[in-house]
Amino acid sequence: MSFQIDNRAIKKALNKVNSSNKSNRSLKKRSEDFQVFQDVFNKPTLLTLYSLFNNGTLSYLNGIVNSGKESNIFWGVTPEGNDVAIKIYLTVASEFRKRLKYIEGDNRFKNINTNGHKLIELWARKEYKNLLKAYSINIPVPKPIAVKQNVLVMEFQGIDGSPFPTLSETEVSESDLHEVLDLVTKLYTKCNLVHSDLSEYNVFKNSSDLILFDFGSAVDVSHPMSKDFLSRDLNNLCRFFSKRGIPKFDVEKKYQELIDNDV
Ligand SMILES: Nc1ncnc2c1ncn2[C@@H]1O[C@H](COP(=O)(O)OP(=O)(O)O)[C@@H](O)[C@H]1O
Ligand SMILES: [Mg+2]
Repeated sequence: MSFQIDNRAIKKALNKVNSSNKSNRSLKKRSEDFQVFQDVFNKPTLLTLYSLFNNGTLSYLNGIVNSGKESNIFWGVTPEGNDVAIKIYLTVASEFRKRLKYIEGDNRFKNINTNGHKLIELWARKEYKNLLKAYSINIPVPKPIAVKQNVLVMEFQGIDGSPFPTLSETEVSESDLHEVLDLVTKLYTKCNLVHSDLSEYNVFKNSSDLILFDFGSAVDVSHPMSKDFLSRDLNNLCRFFSKRGIPKFDVEKKYQELIDNDV
C-alpha cells in the first residue's frame, strides 16, 4: 500500500472520525484500504501521530512496510529527511494479554496497570527501552528515536522503504551463526537482556552485517523466566541454521556458558 500521510491528512482523518458514520460508510466504499486505515488509525493513534508530526519527530508517513497481528510498521520520513520505521501497536488488547508473562516478573515494570490501552503503551515503551539499552552498548539494533503511547519510531533498516532481508529471506553461512551467537552473548552479559523472540524472522542481514530487532518481548535477566526464554532463543537459532545445512551447535553448552557468565 502506498500513500503519503502528513499532519494535514491526519487533521482531515480526525475530522472524518469525528463526523457521522454515514460519511465513514461512503469513505469505505471509496477505499478498499479503509479497513486497515480504520483499524490502525483510530482516533487515539491519529492524535498520537499528529503530535509526533507537530513536535518535529515526523514529517510524513510514506507507506506501509509490514502488517502483523499486533502491530503495523510504516515507512516514515523525519523533517531532516531521514527514513524511519514507525511501529504502531494495534490497540487490540486481547493479543497483548497473552503476552503478559513478558512483563510481569520484570522488575523494571513493577506496579503497572495492565489494562487495555495502558498495556499496549507499556509494550511500546518496553520495546523502546530494550532497544535503547542494546543500542547504548553498541549492539546492532535499529536506533530508537521516540515512543509515544502505542507508537514507536526507530531508525529504518533498509533502503527506500524496503527493509533489509531477514535471515529467513536470505542466504546464511556459518559465520552468520557465530555472529548472531556473539550478539546473543553480548546482549546477555553486557546488557542483561534476553531477546525472548529470537528467530530467523527477527534478524536483518545487510550484506554481512546482522541487526537484531523486534525487542518487545525482551526481558531483563532477573525475570524469573529469562533462562527459559534464553534456551528457547538458542534452540530456535540452532533449528533454523541446521535446516539451512549448517552444523548444529551445542545448545546446552552455550546456554551453560552464558548463565555461568563464563564467556
Ligand atoms: N527498523 C525497521 N526498519 C525497517 N523495517 C522494519 C523495522 N522494524 C520492523 N520492520 C519491518 O517490519 C517487519 C515486522 O517487524 P517486527 O518488529 O518483527 O514486528 P512483529 O512484532 O509484527 O514481528 C520486519 O520483518 C520488517 O520487514
Ligand atoms: Mg517480528
